[in-house]
Amino acid sequence: MEDINIAIKGFLDIEVPPDLDLFAEIDTLKKERNAIVLAHYYQEPDIQDVADYIGDSLGLAQEAAKTTADCIVFAGVHFMAETAKILNPDKKVLLPDLRAGCSLADSAPAAEFRAFRQKYPNHLVISYINCSAEVKALSDIICTSSNAQKIVESVPRDQGIIFAPDRNLGAYLIKRTGRDMVLWNGTCMVHEIFSLEKIMKLKVRHPEAKLIAHPECEEAVLREADYIGSTTGLLKFTQTDPGREFIVATETGILHQMQLASPDKTFIPAPPTNNCACNDCPHMKLNTLEKLYLCMKYEKPELVMDPVIREAARRPIERMLEISAR
Ligand code: 13P
Ligand code: SF4
Repeated sequence: MEDINIAIKGFLDIEVPPDLDLFAEIDTLKKERNAIVLAHYYQEPDIQDVADYIGDSLGLAQEAAKTTADCIVFAGVHFMAETAKILNPDKKVLLPDLRAGCSLADSAPAAEFRAFRQKYPNHLVISYINCSAEVKALSDIICTSSNAQKIVESVPRDQGIIFAPDRNLGAYLIKRTGRDMVLWNGTCMVHEIFSLEKIMKLKVRHPEAKLIAHPECEEAVLREADYIGSTTGLLKFTQTDPGREFIVATETGILHQMQLASPDKTFIPAPPTNNCACNDCPHMKLNTLEKLYLCMKYEKPELVMDPVIREAARRPIERMLEISAR
């Protein structure tokens, strides 16, 4: 019954008693299952507070690569849990809600990407980690927003490169490295929604505020940014920079750690083009503390992968980890 439920809904639909101390229950389950909870900065604050490790995509992959836990509970999105499974084929990897996808990963369907790649047979393929395992399997090296420049610069200058799937990160890298890369035309629904016009108005009201942006943002926003970096990069910048106010152009989940690390500083989420909470990632936010608890209690839903794709996707991820460690 539960398995049918998961197949249809993607998560366990069981009522959690409202008076249950979920933090204590999750702590007990971690010990019982020898489980580690890995959480991305975009998760809701409660999940971040219960996690053993919080990080950006690179940090999470590195943590997954070295964990000795038997069970990895991934509070993030599907491609991140897949990466953990690829690096740990014999471990159990749980994702609180299997429907937690990614608009950027969805913008590169494997069949279309294979055809695109065939048009450039002599190019090397660097894919941003926000893609499916199938697309990873069609790639030579994976990168994340924190090591993308290093990965691109590790490739000989005369080697043609396809970069996928994020066109904004790709354009930013072309600018930074001077490399003429062929770009796949994908974007993230959260990072392309920021309104430059509203950000500039906000800057008038907060003249001392620094604009900090994730490289998935559009070029017009990046051009005005005082600092551009991955979520870890943005967090570190707010900790070390003497500035007191920051307009943050990325998903709002990161503000939790920024505020914890610098309680006296002010963090303002960059405004989106309309008035909804569009800079909350709807995929990341499918995970809740209740679903995290249920998935640890019942050890479901488990991430299961086709072993052939899993193995083919492993090498480009390992190449990324090797280059990153240099
Ligand atoms: P990083 O984790 O590399 O900062 O990327 C952010 C993101 O959009 C993850 O989906
Ligand atoms: Fe994907 Fe964007 Fe959500 Fe990150 S923030 S998981 S790139 S949709």
